Order: sequence, then structure tokens, then C-alpha cells
Amino acid sequence: MNLKLGVNIDHVATLRQARRAPFPDPVDAAAVCLNTGADFIVVHLRKDQRHIQEKDVARVCRAFPGQIHLECSSAPAMEKAALKYKPHSVCIVPEKPGEVTTTGGLNFTPAVKRRIAQMIERLHRKKILVSLFVSPDAESIRTAAKLGADIVELCTRDYSEATRAATARKLLQNLALSALLARELGLEVHAGHGLDYHNVLAVADIGGIACMNIGFSIITRALFAGLPTAVLEMKGLL
Ligand code: PXP
Repeated sequence: MNLKLGVNIDHVATLRQARRAPFPDPVDAAAVCLNTGADFIVVHLRKDQRHIQEKDVARVCRAFPGQIHLECSSAPAMEKAALKYKPHSVCIVPEKPGEVTTTGGLNFTPAVKRRIAQMIERLHRKKILVSLFVSPDAESIRTAAKLGADIVELCTRDYSEATRAATARKLLQNLALSALLARELGLEVHAGHGLDYHNVLAVADIGGIACMNIGFSIITRALFAGLPTAVLEMKGLL
């Protein structure tokens, strides 16, 4: 399978927001990434808009139709933005106030399931594909399929933070079994969170994963190597 790369450009906006300056512009970053091997551009619109702003979502969706994967929570304001700017796909993620980054997959309480089912239906009416960010466990994957998601993004955070080889192997096994189950249930499989130039190789080897969504490691590598090289190097590993 040809593994696709979604480059998350949130931290280009983080740098811009540090000075509230007009640059660096995420639209310019998206162009460079797409010209050098990225298959998709990922942007995460957070409630606090601490990096990507709503106007960035509008601009990237306009500039690169069919190539924007929007991450957001299931809050009504986020759904409204998704329906307005019509990205290619939306990944619904949990969002906790004050978190440094997304901490894990969706916690499917009955209320969360009801809310996500409504959101999926409305996004589908606008022909927007829906991904759910899930922990790599059978129950979460079965729930995502029942809710009508098109894609599951398996959370690789625990794997990427594992410090013992035996733990990493076990977590990789979970990811492999989860990818298999998701495909059996007709879901496309993505993976992401905490992936870098070293730990991505074993995940790429699992097979059955269509797309890796990677941000922090690529944007930080770009500071030293330049964005085209950072993207090309990652794409080369997939
Ligand atoms: N996938 C999801 C659902 C995320 O929330 C994030 C972080 O925004 C990523 C992938 C990318 O993670 P990282 O920046 O650690 O590569």
C-alpha cells in the first residue's frame, strides 16, 4: 500500500502567533509541503485558536481544495467552521482545556456518541469525510464503525512515548491488531501523534495504514534542514 503523508502545520502558526505577526504564513507552508511530497495538509482548529486561526482554515481550504484535513473537537462552533470551509476531511478529536497537545483518543461516553453521530451526519451531507481519533483498542474501533465514521486515526502517542523496547513492541502489536480490525469493519486507517523520523518506521511496517499524520517532528526538523528537506525525508521513510 502506498502510505500517504499528512503534514500538520499547526506549529508554523504557533511561531507566527508568538509575535502576532503576519508571518510565517501557514498557507505558504502548506504550498511547500504539498510541492515536496505531502499528500495532505493537517490543521487543528482549537477552541483557544492558540495556533491555527479560523481565518487560516478558510484560507488553506480555499487555496488547496481536496487536500485539507481539519482536526477539531465536536463542539458546535467547530462543526460550524467545518461545514463553512468544507475541508476534504475532518478528524474529530477530544479537546481538554489547558492541555499542551491532544492527550489521547475519544472517550465514547453515551453523550459523546450522540453528539458525534449528529456531527458525522451533517458533515456527510456536505460530502466531508469523517475520521475519529481513537485509542488502538477494539471497543473504540467498533464504536467508530457503528457511528458511521469513514476513517479511524489510531493514536500513536503511547507507542511514541514508550521508553522500553518490550513496551513499544506490545503497543505496536495493539496498533497492528487495531488496524486489521478497522479494515475488516470497512474503515480507512490513519495513524498519528508523536511520530518522528525514528519511531515512524515500525508503524509504517505494520501494513494496512493508509496515511500518517505528522506535525511536530517535521516542523522542528525544518528549523535546521528547511521545510522541503524535512518533508522529503519523512515521505522517504514511508
Ligand atoms: N493526529 C492528531 C489527531 C493530533 O491531534 C495531532 C496533534 O495535533 C497529530 C496527529 C500530530 O501529532 P504530532 O504533532 O505529535 O506529530
